[in-house]
Amino acid sequence: MVLLGIDIGGSGIKGAPVDTATGELRAERSRIPTPAPSTPDAVTEVIRETLGKFPDVSGPVGITFPGVVKSGRVLTATNVDPQWLGFEAATFFAAKVGRPTIVMNDADAAGIAEMRFGAGRNMQGVVVLLTLGTGIGSAVFLDGKLLPNTEFGHIEIRGKDAESRAAARIREEKDLGWQEWGEKVGEVVARLDTLINPDLFIIGGGVSRKADKFIPVVQSMVKTPIVPAQLQNAAGLVGAAVVAGENPVA
Ligand code: BGC
Repeated sequence: MVLLGIDIGGSGIKGAPVDTATGELRAERSRIPTPAPSTPDAVTEVIRETLGKFPDVSGPVGITFPGVVKSGRVLTATNVDPQWLGFEAATFFAAKVGRPTIVMNDADAAGIAEMRFGAGRNMQGVVVLLTLGTGIGSAVFLDGKLLPNTEFGHIEIRGKDAESRAAARIREEKDLGWQEWGEKVGEVVARLDTLINPDLFIIGGGVSRKADKFIPVVQSMVKTPIVPAQLQNAAGLVGAAVVAGENPVA
């Protein structure tokens, strides 16, 4: 089945048709900057525009959101407009685009894609995926099954939110070297390691393309093995399309 996956991020809204059996993109990904302010109406316009770019792809649409989402309702919105809080996103999108939609947390979607097609394939036990981008997202799996809506980007590290110390955005904004930023990421991962003792960490987000520059630094601070994600920036939209194919919501 080929379905559209859309990833709403803090800086860009990405979309592409996804072969849900293989995780492959069937066309070049579209990326439109996230509108500012990123209100529900403004983001929905971009979703409609993205759909318009892939007129041949029908069926349910999988959409990720950078916050906690339960049954299609947004419960947190750290890096997007506060109008999203409490917003019935899935119902709203479905009404606006005239298609069934599922809406889920972005890191959970990326985790599903990595577990099925990427770095977590066939992994049993406890796997934690962290996405490093505008914020830090997390997805936790036990024997391949997701524990949804974990928010490890918001654990407190020395009095500050982990993501405000170690997200990829912070490296860019503060122009940190790989070693220095790697140590900040390492501090977050080491804390999680002592709290939940997983069998594997997967580090995702666009910056995982540069894994060799910082994962060795992180690994030197953490006992549990750490591997880079394989689907990088496409993971979120791939996971959302897969979930849309399995749980279509009218
Ligand atoms: C949000 C998470 C999200 C992550 C990555 C965090 O600020 O709270 O829900 O997964 O950013 O976008």
